[in-house]
Amino acid sequence: MARALTTYVCQSCGATYGRWQGKCESCGAWNTIAEESLAATGVGGAPVKGGKAGGGKTKGRAFALAGLDGASEQAPRTETQVGELDRVFGGGLVRGSVILLGGDPGIGKSTLLIQASARLARMVHRVVYISGEEAVDQVRLRAERLGLTASPVELAAETNVEDIVATLAEGPAPRLVVIDSIQTMWTDTVESAPGTVSQVRSAAQVLIRYAKKSGAAVILVGHVTKDGQIAGPRVVEHMVDAVMSFEGEGGHHFRILRSVKNRFGPTDEIGVFEMTGKGLREVPNPSELFLAGRDLGAPGTAVFAGMEGTRPVLVEIQALVAASTLGTPRRAVVGWDPQRLSMVLAVLDAHCGVRLGGHDVYLNVAGGLRIAEPAADLAVAAALVSSLSGAVLPSDAVHFGEISLSGAVRPVAQAAARLKEARKLGFVRAVVPEIARGEQAESGLTVQAVTHLSTLVADIAASGVGRAKPKAVAGE
Ligand code: TYD
Ligand code: MG
Repeated sequence: MARALTTYVCQSCGATYGRWQGKCESCGAWNTIAEESLAATGVGGAPVKGGKAGGGKTKGRAFALAGLDGASEQAPRTETQVGELDRVFGGGLVRGSVILLGGDPGIGKSTLLIQASARLARMVHRVVYISGEEAVDQVRLRAERLGLTASPVELAAETNVEDIVATLAEGPAPRLVVIDSIQTMWTDTVESAPGTVSQVRSAAQVLIRYAKKSGAAVILVGHVTKDGQIAGPRVVEHMVDAVMSFEGEGGHHFRILRSVKNRFGPTDEIGVFEMTGKGLREVPNPSELFLAGRDLGAPGTAVFAGMEGTRPVLVEIQALVAASTLGTPRRAVVGWDPQRLSMVLAVLDAHCGVRLGGHDVYLNVAGGLRIAEPAADLAVAAALVSSLSGAVLPSDAVHFGEISLSGAVRPVAQAAARLKEARKLGFVRAVVPEIARGEQAESGLTVQAVTHLSTLVADIAASGVGRAKPKAVAGE
């Protein structure tokens, strides 16, 4: 049966087509569709030796079923000894798990992994680091700079996964195998070039099978494209146990490790690192970092007491409101959800008489942190009103609270932890939603509870009265 032996695969999302076309209808990307050989890729992308789907054995092999309470012979988790990394993993590396670590080129993925490998190897665990991008000498040079050469990490520069698995099978199963990067790997069973969807998928499958069989944890490094997707390996994302992304804002030294998916742990924890001349340094107290170099005494800044997973993080929210010369004023947001900003602006307009329709609004979360919590609403509103009115917010106050469309300020989770962190860092006041009296007393802060946004707006406007050049807050 002579069927075409090639198919056209979108390199971004993995959708397949019978003929080439400019745009992928599945993910909307342009020029991502490439011709790939069908011969070695079975149904669903599983590689089939010899290219004949369904060839070989016809009868299934019976296997033993196990109960949930069976004991595993080894500790299920191994701590990497890099605290921030273990926190994001959910307490260490899980045996036989596969983790995809994505991030922009140059963000520090290789540095992070060589450091973690070295720490782990020092704990008398077998650790293998396979680089498909750098020569062994380059990896060594980096290790030397980082002062890690004393650590017994086993290195290789290899790209063929069959060779890699055969090599790993010699000797005891490693605790950790790092594959840097999955895009450089290729398998004999697929004909297309390394980096194509079918190669990446098949190579990942071989490595995943190895991890499950041997019990070694495998970390796959994946590159990220301009629009933030892990290139090609998007198709790998659902095959692996955990997907982590290593992020950082250009120009900032710190890096945030975020878990996007985690079968064995939470997905809202972050790990914070700082890139220094001697590699990545863990930052156990990120609040200090995010609040460093704060511009005290300037209007338009408010400190938000947020939560990242189980950890409270204080961060400065900066707003700039300036009269606009444009027909449609500019709204620029870094580190927060632009939709959420529009909502806060609408509530300020509709319920508090703060008209920003003729103003450009810029909002920035200091330090390159990205906030997803609605609890930041109140801090954002405070920063906006402060910038508009020119009234400086007290530098010793933190804010948190969710704003509803009616302008009511709603309570948020983990108020006690937020207040405790604020007190630890020397703050004395908190502008928050109604919270339990017990929590208030326990926090040791002067708590100002606001139930409606208009109260906060009036307070800030009043504190700005008598300043040299107060800008008008409409409705005064
Ligand atoms: P790297 O780990 O190679 O990034 P990735 O693997 O994600 O592509 O990191 C490279 C960058 O990190 C490079 O721009 C230099 C910087 N760097 C430092 O600032 N200090 C160091 O000690 C090291 C090793 C790298
Ligand atoms: Mg690298």
